[in-house]
Amino acid sequence: MYKLIKPLLFKIEPEKAHGLTIDALKTLQKFPMLYPVVDQLFTYRNPILAQTIQEVHYDNPVGLAAGFDKSCEVPKALEHIGFGAIELGGITPKPQPGNPQPRMFRLLEDDALINRMGFNNIGMNKALSNLRRHAYNIPVGINVGVNKATAYAERYQDYIKVLDTFKNDVTFFTVNISSPNTENLQNFHDKDEFSMLCQALTTFKDEQEVNVPIYLKLTSDMTLDSLKALLPAITATFDGVMLANTTRQRDGLSSDNKIEEGGLSGRPLFERNLKLINYAYQQTNGKFLIIGTGGIFSAEDAIAMMRNGASLLQIYTSMVIEGPGIVKKINKGIARYLQDHHYDNVSDIIGLDVKNNISS
Ligand SMILES: Cc1cc2nc3c(=O)[nH]c(=O)nc-3n(C[C@H](O)[C@H](O)[C@H](O)COP(=O)(O)O)c2cc1C
Repeated sequence: MYKLIKPLLFKIEPEKAHGLTIDALKTLQKFPMLYPVVDQLFTYRNPILAQTIQEVHYDNPVGLAAGFDKSCEVPKALEHIGFGAIELGGITPKPQPGNPQPRMFRLLEDDALINRMGFNNIGMNKALSNLRRHAYNIPVGINVGVNKATAYAERYQDYIKVLDTFKNDVTFFTVNISSPNTENLQNFHDKDEFSMLCQALTTFKDEQEVNVPIYLKLTSDMTLDSLKALLPAITATFDGVMLANTTRQRDGLSSDNKIEEGGLSGRPLFERNLKLINYAYQQTNGKFLIIGTGGIFSAEDAIAMMRNGASLLQIYTSMVIEGPGIVKKINKGIARYLQDHHYDNVSDIIGLDVKNNISS
């Protein structure tokens, strides 16, 4: 069906098309009696895909990445698209409009998008009341950002404010230091700034008894050396690492829109992120949770990310380009692969290529 809608949707300016999609999902949320039909269309269930990680049950490893539902407007509808988990946000303490439009661009020849949204969202309090409208049957996480107007030295407190606000309402958090669209946010990748952030988060976690996992999302633009330098603090502070957010690189692109500023997502990210995942898995001896994101378009991509060390996955751009049916397609393909190769469970393939010393 998406094949029929896609030519029309892609004639519309990307952010408008995104808004229409959100409206359609809002309409779905008004008619919960339709959920069984939507489940039937989009959800693939197979126990071979289920895992329990850090006491959280995941029906399947394919999650929705942050940025699709920035203000927690349609989480219940998204649950019925077949994801194993959904991440909402990025949420900031105060509402903010984000960067001027246009700020989202299609690069169809490259199966990619560029965005410079700039954490547009309704702010943590309203987002929380949106989230509380429903009960959820899958893990729901919040991606945490900072307000553009917050003084540089106070930024780490923005993370803490959002964590504090949502701590009893989510399954996990992702601290996002990797958006390229908030000036100097990526400075948190510098060792000293990172260590201050880690200290503040550790104090907060201890004092407030945060009982849900907190993950860290890094940029795709980091080198293996800089990843290595941060890993001790990452493993001491966080419960997992998400590799990785968008890139500023524009190598090898064909689409005219490659000149736009912002973060590039989609297929061109895949190889870069696979390397980061492989390296992080090696360096942590497979003992630290890795969530893989960036350019996953097929079951083969998903399997490669898992074999290189990712226990869970997230997608965004491939769903925009291929439609929501991609979640089922990827899950079905992973299950078929596991069955064909006589694995009992999806967790059996995690890190296999690293253990077998196959370089990514
Ligand atoms: C329009 C758009 C907005 C995004 N917003 C966020 C965000 O708020 N926080 C975040 O951590 N990542 C954000 N991302 C990055 C995605 O969550 C994802 O990590 C990245 O796009 C790579 O995955 P993909 O290639 O499957 O899209 C955004 C991506 C896009 C395309």
